[in-house]
Amino acid sequence: MKQAVEQLKEQFLNDLQDVYSSDGLQQVRDTYFSRKSGRITLLMRQLGKLSPEERKEAGRLVNELRDFAESLFAERQQALRLQDEARRAESERLDVTLPGRRIKPGSEHPIVRVKQRIEDIFVSMGYSVEDGPEIDTTFYNFDALNIPVGHPARESQDTFYIDSELALRSQTSNIQIHAMQKRRPPIRIIAPGKVFRRDNPDPTHNPMFFQVEGLNVAEGIHMGHLKGTLQIFLEKLFSQSVRLRFRPSYFPFVEPGAETDFSCIFCKAESDCRVCKGVGWIELGGSGMVHPNVLSACGIDPKKYSGFAFGFGIDRMTAMLYGVDDIRNFFSGDLRFLEQF
Ligand code: PHE
Repeated sequence: MKQAVEQLKEQFLNDLQDVYSSDGLQQVRDTYFSRKSGRITLLMRQLGKLSPEERKEAGRLVNELRDFAESLFAERQQALRLQDEARRAESERLDVTLPGRRIKPGSEHPIVRVKQRIEDIFVSMGYSVEDGPEIDTTFYNFDALNIPVGHPARESQDTFYIDSELALRSQTSNIQIHAMQKRRPPIRIIAPGKVFRRDNPDPTHNPMFFQVEGLNVAEGIHMGHLKGTLQIFLEKLFSQSVRLRFRPSYFPFVEPGAETDFSCIFCKAESDCRVCKGVGWIELGGSGMVHPNVLSACGIDPKKYSGFAFGFGIDRMTAMLYGVDDIRNFFSGDLRFLEQF
C-alpha cells in the first residue's frame, strides 16, 4: 500500500507540473479526484478490503496523500488564475503616454486665399462683395449684357446650356445686372465666383474657373477712375508700384472696351521672364465703360449715370502669384499639391 501511495504521489506531481491551462486542471481533477474513478478515490475505496491493523496505517497514508494532493491542486489552480489575469491585463493594457493620432488640419485652398485678398483690398476701397447665381437665364447671361443673338458667346460650343432658357454662366458679368436691378447708384461692387466654359482642359484652361467682376456706377464716372482703381488694387496686391495700359477691345456690355495689362512685376522686361516672356506686360482681363444699353436694361438712366466694369481670372492670378504652371492642379484635389500652400 505504501508503495502504491508513493507511486501515485509521484505521478500526481508529474501530471500537475505539466498543467498550464484550466482544461489541463480539469483533466487532473478528473483523473485523481473524480468520485467514480479518481485514482485517489479508488485507493481510498481499497482501504475497506484491508484488515483493521493494516487499514489504520494505510488510511493515514492515503489521507495524507489526499490532503497533500488537494492543497497542491488548489495552489496550482490559484497560480494559473493569477497568470491568466496577468496575461489578460497585459493584452488589454493601454499606454496612456502614447501620443494621440494627430488630425491633419486643412488649409485654405490657394484660390480661396487669393480671392479673399482681392476682396479685402476692394472692401478697403469702399466696394462690397456681391454674390449671384451660377445658373442663370439667358436674360441675365446675355440679353441684359447687350450680347445679341448670334454672338459666339451665346453658342452652345462655348456655353453649357441646361435648357433653352437656362445656362451655367460663362462670366460673372450676370451679377452686374442683378446688382444694378437691386440697387440705385452709387453702386460699387465686386463679384467673385465660378464660371463655366466649354473649353478643353490645358495648362491655362479649365471648363470651370474663377473670375472676379467689378462694377462702379455713379455720376461722372470715367475711364480715369477705372485705371486708377485697377492700378491701386494691383499695387496693394503685389506691394509694389505697377503701370497699367489699355488696349482697345470689344465686349458687348462695355463701350469703350479694353484689354487691361499691367507692367510685369517679376522682371524689367528680361527676355527669359517666366511670366511675361520678355514682353514686360501681363494681361489682367477685360474692362470698359458700362454700355448705355446695359444701364437702360437695368432701369438706370445712362444720361445721368455712367460706370466702369472689369473682370479677370482669379485662378490665373493665383497661378502667377504662386508660380504654378498648370491651373488644372488647383482642381485636382491632390493633397500633395495642396499641402504646399
Ligand atoms: N466678363 C469679361 C470676360 O469674361 C471680362 C469683362 C468684365 C470685360 C467686365 C469688360 C467688363 O472676359
